[in-house]
Amino acid sequence: MRRVLSAVGERDPRPLVSGTVIFGRTDEVGDDLLLRGWIEDAGTNRYNATVLGQGQARTQLPRARAAPRSTLAAMTSHVAPEGSRIAAGGAGLVIRQETADDHREVREVHTRAFGDGERVPGLVEALRVAEAALAPISFVATVDDRVVGHVLLSATRLDAPRRIVDVLSLSPLGVLPEFQRQGIGTQLIASALAAADSQNVPLVFLEGSPRYYGTRGFEGAGAMGFRSPSLRIPEAAFQVARLSAYEPWMTGSFVYSEVFWAFDCVGLRDPEA
Ligand SMILES: CC(C)(COP(=O)(O)OP(=O)(O)OC[C@H]1O[C@@H](n2cnc3c(N)ncnc32)[C@H](O)[C@@H]1OP(=O)(O)O)[C@@H](O)C(=O)NCCC(=O)NCCS
Repeated sequence: MRRVLSAVGERDPRPLVSGTVIFGRTDEVGDDLLLRGWIEDAGTNRYNATVLGQGQARTQLPRARAAPRSTLAAMTSHVAPEGSRIAAGGAGLVIRQETADDHREVREVHTRAFGDGERVPGLVEALRVAEAALAPISFVATVDDRVVGHVLLSATRLDAPRRIVDVLSLSPLGVLPEFQRQGIGTQLIASALAAADSQNVPLVFLEGSPRYYGTRGFEGAGAMGFRSPSLRIPEAAFQVARLSAYEPWMTGSFVYSEVFWAFDCVGLRDPEA
């Protein structure tokens, strides 16, 4: 389901794009599968795509548009290996939007992923209900209907010279320890970025490992002209994904929402300081 060889137009049987579906949010529409994600062609060009799949035989590509290379060139495909826990599980891995029924399991995911009883689960719960210019984007990963991973994007701001720009922050991202290293985090990030892109959000910021996020659509934010909101964020950890709606004038200071400060979830504290 995550891999197709070609995507053809509705009326034109010639392939519009041939390649690999990198990931996607998959919904069942009648007997069809609607997959939103990216397609990578042989030249490693990537295209935003919505694919209506009727089995393996025929796919349609209603719209495909080039996305910024800076973002897409960095994305990588991670497919769970044959015989992995996910593949052996039956229903397999599903990435979908979070619902209220998932809240208890999402709390468990972050409690165990971060080894942290209250801070990260509390951050998630506060961000879900905070008043904000942009609604949160929240995806869960399930295996056999069990929630095993979660990612949240929430509203933050970029204080640009021209005006304040509504942007998103990716935090937190967590996968249950026994399900890590199977590509679930990668797929959650990709689904979240695709959703942000489809809502014309220009930028998604985060703090995290450049080794991990640098191959999943993010790049160093400082070098791109953005100012970090705290001296406690290591320079390399301050990262940004520039999406289709990004324009070069969008520089300036990234500003977290109040909830991040209230939960002391910005930067690293130095106990020796
Ligand atoms: C970070 C996390 C979400 C990754 O999820 P995942 O499903 O294991 O990630 P993937 O399977 O897509 O990718 C695994 C790869 O990321 C690497 N990786 C995982 N965490 C990493 C980190 N903190 N720094 C650098 N690399 C990391 C793994 O070594 C692995 O590399 P490999 O593919 O070369 O073997 C998961 O490890 C987790 O929940 N960690 C605890 C919470 C956390 O630190 N969240 C991120 C900060 S918000």
